[in-house]
Amino acid sequence: MTLLEQIPSETFREASIPVLETTRLCLRAPRLEDAKTVAALANDRRIAENTARIPHPYKVADAEGFISGANKAGGEAVFLITLRDETIVGACGITSTEPAPELGYWLGVPYWGNGFATEAMHAVIDYAFGDLGHEALQAGARVTNPASRRVLEKCGFQWTGVGLYRIRAIHSSAPIDRFRLERRVWSALKSWGRMKKVS
Ligand SMILES: CC(C)(COP(=O)(O)OP(=O)(O)OC[C@H]1O[C@@H](n2cnc3c(N)ncnc32)[C@H](O)[C@@H]1OP(=O)(O)O)[C@@H](O)C(=O)NCCC(=O)NCCS
Repeated sequence: MTLLEQIPSETFREASIPVLETTRLCLRAPRLEDAKTVAALANDRRIAENTARIPHPYKVADAEGFISGANKAGGEAVFLITLRDETIVGACGITSTEPAPELGYWLGVPYWGNGFATEAMHAVIDYAFGDLGHEALQAGARVTNPASRRVLEKCGFQWTGVGLYRIRAIHSSAPIDRFRLERRVWSALKSWGRMKKVS
């Protein structure tokens, strides 16, 4: 048996994803024991209809599938977002897409409106450019989702046009605004102190 074979696969995957800490939040790899909480938070049509892949209703088995498939593909990073007391509040990630990796995120409805998504995205963006070395990131938000567009704008993303996303929960496609953040814009915003410092 090799050394790698002795390490449980979940532990190995988790080890490849860092823990990102911000003033109020902690971002870490999801674990199977989180499935019940993730399902309880994500089982809300307001979340499913604004994300591409979250089904509705969202059951514990869906959460288990999401968690066991997370952080397997190269270049992908999936995080749970928790408060500093370890309360799970949502999830986010970077997926490998062309022409640039794409950010996705959702928060449980009780946690909306506190700036948590923006704070979490600042940490993920710093990780994507700083540690993963990406040159650009992209994201999309349904045209009916001003809160998500605002999160992206507060993180320095620039609008690049419109498109369509296939939304699993509505069994249909829906119009989206597309956004992009270039490394040079991120660097400039950081050096001007316009991006919230992640401590
Ligand atoms: C989008 C989402 C992540 C935002 O989370 P959040 O923690 O509430 O976001 P923040 O508090 O960091 O920022 C939200 C911003 O949108 C603004 N906003 C919220 N609702 C708004 C509305 N109806 N119209 C205009 N602006 C709105 C807030 O005022 C805030 O901006 P401000 O700081 O300038 O005041 C959350 O609503 C969510 O999970 N939605 C469902 C899933 C989803 O949309 N995911 C994104 C996929 S693209």
